[in-house]
Amino acid sequence: MLSRAFLLGSIFATSLVSGQGVGSYQTETHPKLTWQQCSGTGGSNCRTVNGEIVIDANWRWLHVKGDYKNCYDGNTWDTTNCSDNDKCSSNCVVEGADYSATYGITTSSSALTLKFVTKGSYSTNIGSRTYLMKDTNTYQMFNLIGNEFTFDVDVSQLPCGLNGALYFVVMDSKGQGTAGAKYGTGYCDGQCPRDLKFINGKANAAGWQPSSNDQNAGVGERGACCAEMDVWEANSISTALTPHSCDTVSFSECSGENCGGTYSDTRYAGPCDPNGCDFNPYRLGVTDFYGKGKTVDTSKPFTVVTQFLGSGSNLSEIKRFYVQNGKVIENPQPKTKGITGNSITQQWCDAENKANQEDVYPFKDHGGMRSMAQGMAKGMVLVMSLWDDHYANMLWLDSTYPTDKDASFPGAARGDCPITSGVPADVESQNANAQVKYSNIKFGPIGSTFKQP
Ligand SMILES: *[C@@H]1O[C@H](CO)[C@@H](O)[C@H](O)[C@H]1NC(C)=O
Ligand SMILES: *[C@@H]1O[C@H](CO)[C@@H](O)[C@H](O)[C@H]1NC(C)=O
Repeated sequence: MLSRAFLLGSIFATSLVSGQGVGSYQTETHPKLTWQQCSGTGGSNCRTVNGEIVIDANWRWLHVKGDYKNCYDGNTWDTTNCSDNDKCSSNCVVEGADYSATYGITTSSSALTLKFVTKGSYSTNIGSRTYLMKDTNTYQMFNLIGNEFTFDVDVSQLPCGLNGALYFVVMDSKGQGTAGAKYGTGYCDGQCPRDLKFINGKANAAGWQPSSNDQNAGVGERGACCAEMDVWEANSISTALTPHSCDTVSFSECSGENCGGTYSDTRYAGPCDPNGCDFNPYRLGVTDFYGKGKTVDTSKPFTVVTQFLGSGSNLSEIKRFYVQNGKVIENPQPKTKGITGNSITQQWCDAENKANQEDVYPFKDHGGMRSMAQGMAKGMVLVMSLWDDHYANMLWLDSTYPTDKDASFPGAARGDCPITSGVPADVESQNANAQVKYSNIKFGPIGSTFKQP
């Protein structure tokens, strides 16, 4: 029995290498994006790095090799070419992308703009997920511990229900399958997403359940897990800084409801922490800190600095500063009773969990800050995305959530959006022109990217 299982394993391993090839109808040309690698102090000693951006494979046209026939259309798979995962993997190829016309993604020197709804010739695209690359075939890897990551963001065009997210996940620098990083493969995160059409070079068609409220998405039997550091999840109303831990920090595949997370009915059954330990000023009772006309004024661009204090594979603290109009603004001190400190440490997370009277604590259960540190030590890929939320209308970020909780209950109010806001059908029709702009990325040792007071 043992040797047979072994043999099967090696057959699968071989088929993985050939899985998810590429089509030839559209040349893949990545938009260029520059960023700054800093050293010294105060942001004056930075050199320009020439990077590029790639859109995730899940947004791309998936069709029969050498034929225009769709392998995946809307939210369902072709029943013949994708009658099983292995067949589908060899029959279907992923295409190059027209970044601006199809996906509403544009760059200009150090700035990346993601548009929310883009009406192309063949389809209407909703949001996007992009990765920063080192070269055409390789993701840029970041080792965050002991370093700080700084960027400018314009969230002024992001209303309730949208999330302009900049974060890091423990993906492989080369992506997955034959298509590799060049085509934006290999995604994983702390929700162990099951909405991915391909995982590890193999289709996720078997058992696919089309979404009831998303014309473009569904959920397969397999999911892709890895640790996730959400530096920035935000719109013009609310913002959150959130590490998510995992039992295994680098990519690991999960199966069905054992994946847990957003895409499973068993949210806490998976190997990762779907909730995270979040620092959201509004949720911590500081309701006048972040928003239009507030201390950090989201009607205009500003700079976001995030420091990852520690060394080696030890992460002691995650610290946040903002810079706007030349003024450095520290994260505020929480007003919630029982939580002190304006930065994230393991103790801070423990206090938040207790103060908010949570009945689960998945961040700690899956390794907490130690797990996050292990993920960072492996090297992480930078993700920049814009999305709306077909599961919870983004109310966990910008409204009162769960919606039946009294807003005065600790941790229930996360922003001042109504509990009826953020319905994807509404935001996609009413806020089609929404967009987010990320620019001036700077990275280097603590103190190297900005003038710290
Ligand atoms: C896949 O689709 C092509 C049309 O593009 C068709 O000719 C072929 O028979 C299909 N293959 C299978 C196995 O159904
Ligand atoms: C990490 O922390 C542990 C325990 O606090 C300590 O023993 C170790 O020396 C630290 N390692 C580094 C590289 O800082």
